Amino acid sequence: MLRDVKSIEEVQELLAGQKYVCGRALATVVFLALKLNKPLFLEGEAGVGKTEIAKALAGALGRELIRLQCYEGLDAASAVYEWNFAEQMIAIRTAEAVGGADRETLKDELFSEEYLIERPLLKALRPHVDGPPVLLIDEIDRTDEPFEAFLLEALSDYQVTIPELGTVRALTPPIVVLTSNRTREVHDALKRRCLYHWVDYPSFERELEILHARVPEAAESLSREVVAFVQRLREEDLFKKPGVAETIDWAKCLLALDVVSLSPEVIADTLGAILKYQDDIMRIQGSEAARLLNEVRAELAPA
Ligand SMILES: Nc1ncnc2c1ncn2[C@@H]1O[C@H](COP(=O)(O)OP(=O)(O)OP(=O)(O)O)[C@@H](O)[C@H]1O
Ligand SMILES: [Mg+2]
Repeated sequence: MLRDVKSIEEVQELLAGQKYVCGRALATVVFLALKLNKPLFLEGEAGVGKTEIAKALAGALGRELIRLQCYEGLDAASAVYEWNFAEQMIAIRTAEAVGGADRETLKDELFSEEYLIERPLLKALRPHVDGPPVLLIDEIDRTDEPFEAFLLEALSDYQVTIPELGTVRALTPPIVVLTSNRTREVHDALKRRCLYHWVDYPSFERELEILHARVPEAAESLSREVVAFVQRLREEDLFKKPGVAETIDWAKCLLALDVVSLSPEVIADTLGAILKYQDDIMRIQGSEAARLLNEVRAELAPA
């Protein structure tokens, strides 16, 4: 059984092994979540590594990753379990054709494990050979309040009830990671059950470290320019700021084009890797890109 990660540093090392660069503050809440057996609630901008941390944790701890992707209209049936209606129909038809089975027996049979389709939440509560899985409840802000209330209940005692079968309770609770892009506020009651952390854009040094981990083949000078330029872009008044995911994508694009150093032309040609809205691209393209690049170069130049 895990829960024997002994220190915050060990969390950082484990995640680094998965190429996940984790600052002290984030490592601390992860450590506490494991230690205290509490769900981890991560909020932050798009592409800053919220989802990735659940994947990295599962990888580092050798646990199965079970993902519940949230969306508007997600209901308990899709999140917990469904009955295999088609198979049940076939069983009924077969029973009718053969005759024999009485109504009660047939009913018991139809609502047994055999016809149960497990969805992520139920799956996460079942015992796993490798130890409790990592349950990623991704983008919770996309669901509605009734589902949130349902989730709150499921997470408070790690159990769900299937009326026909009874209650399924996790012997050892899963490691739960919830993420939100904060398109709406998630209810306090749910947040209160969790350890909360706001995942911010990384500092220059940390983003460079992430780029080293994810795109090690990029030359140091290009990596520094890329990170500095993206960091500078985030200070602009953009409709959608680039996340770390975009920094990584951009570096990969530049490598694929054999670019060794940024230039206004290169930036113009590849801006679609970092900015995803035409208005933002129009704003930055051309002289603005050249101006930002000059600023970045001046900052990067050794004093
Ligand atoms: N700290 C980090 N260390 C290593 N890689 C990172 C880190 N942060 C982000 N990344 C990279 O950025 C990519 C995007 O991260 P992720 O999908 O977790 O973002 P997110 O916060 O969940 O974004 P969204 O809100 O859009 O879902 C990951 O695939 C990963 O490669
Ligand atoms: Mg995500």
